[in-house]
Amino acid sequence: MNTIILSPDEPAHVRAAPSHRDPSAYYSRLAQEQHFFHDEANGWWVAASAAAVKEVLTSRICLTRPLSEPIPEALLGGAAGQIFGRLVRLRDDDAGDKLRRAVASALRGVDLGQVAVVAHRRAMELDSDAQEMFSVDRTMTFMFALPVQVVAQLLGIPKASFGDVMAWLGDYGAAAAAAATGIPALTAELLARGHHGAQALFELVMKIRRDSQQCGPLLHALANEARRVGCDDETDVVVNAIGYLVQGYVAMASLIGSTLLALARQPALRTQVVADPTLVRPLIQEVLRCDPVTNSTFRFMARDGKIAGHMVRQGEMIIVLLAAANRDPALNPDPDRFDITRADRKFLEFGAGVHACPAEKFAPLLVEVAVAHLLRRGLPFEQLESSLTYAASGHVRTPLFKR
Ligand code: HEM
Repeated sequence: MNTIILSPDEPAHVRAAPSHRDPSAYYSRLAQEQHFFHDEANGWWVAASAAAVKEVLTSRICLTRPLSEPIPEALLGGAAGQIFGRLVRLRDDDAGDKLRRAVASALRGVDLGQVAVVAHRRAMELDSDAQEMFSVDRTMTFMFALPVQVVAQLLGIPKASFGDVMAWLGDYGAAAAAAATGIPALTAELLARGHHGAQALFELVMKIRRDSQQCGPLLHALANEARRVGCDDETDVVVNAIGYLVQGYVAMASLIGSTLLALARQPALRTQVVADPTLVRPLIQEVLRCDPVTNSTFRFMARDGKIAGHMVRQGEMIIVLLAAANRDPALNPDPDRFDITRADRKFLEFGAGVHACPAEKFAPLLVEVAVAHLLRRGLPFEQLESSLTYAASGHVRTPLFKR
């Protein structure tokens, strides 16, 4: 069994890495030196090399939830638990497999050209009362608002509800993460807000689903795809429509923030990208590889079995370090070099196997529209670093800018 060797600046463990100032060297080291190991102090396994990460994500004995606790106990008995238990992201049952196909094909079927038009228009609306240049605070508001509001619009949610929807998503997301990972710590207030947010989201999207006039193209496509694969549970459809919002909200905001940071830290690159906005796209791809949002995900063993040559027992948790795998030299030559011109770039930031993210084109597109808009309008790049903190999370790296 491997021991963990910590260097003084390293995060205390893998769940402390996403909110660490700079975990890149830690991830690189784990990818190269500790491919798959047991963290004795915390009781979990860690997959860090690209091969180990792929093996876990494509193994049918590695489940998204423990068999003994499909829904975290703390969420039971309320709306947050109802949503958690029905999301395809957290299900490995047969009905979930069918629904997953519908969720993926509805999202992959959206017209990306149309999405870009909606996103540009929404960016202009959000910007209508802006001053000369974005402030740090406005930049953060914009990065959280734009992409999720586009998803909301595609579902048919009216603009008047966007503010409420964002607050409800934040509350549900915080309660779900706290119940599933302990970060942030779960409090009675967080839980109550999470249930309330989940209930309100459910009622709103169910109402839209029942009104064919209001139902947006993405919700419509999901309902059709679900019917096509033989899934006629309306609650499942509505919850997984909410799932698009849940999955995308913080992730896309975080990717915008990390892309802005990459530009703030590399002024020469910034000059290049401002002069040639077509470079925003490869820039985002390199940020997805080098400073990714989903630093890690996790799996639980359905039964005893061998993973990466180690015997892992039923119920044990494996933390799957996507951020480390992206820095494995087996995927890309010279992986620690940030290079937007990299040919044949490979990364695991959108996962692998049956649960791989179906938004691998959709999400970067919305981020691209947001970043390009901010670059055109101008923002105080030199103030980003000094106003930076990272949100408390065991798995997602979310830069927050506040002056
Ligand atoms: C930068 C943005 C995003 C990143 C980095 C990201 C990353 C991921 C990752 C790593 C997974 C797999 C998790 C696992 O296997 O444990 C995942 C799953 C998923 N993502 Fe994304 N995602 C992003 C945006 C989005 C958006 C915008 C949507 C929807 C509009 C979305 C929908 C989903 C869904 C439905 C799943 C579950 C797939 C399944 O289990 O079948 N994601 N995402």
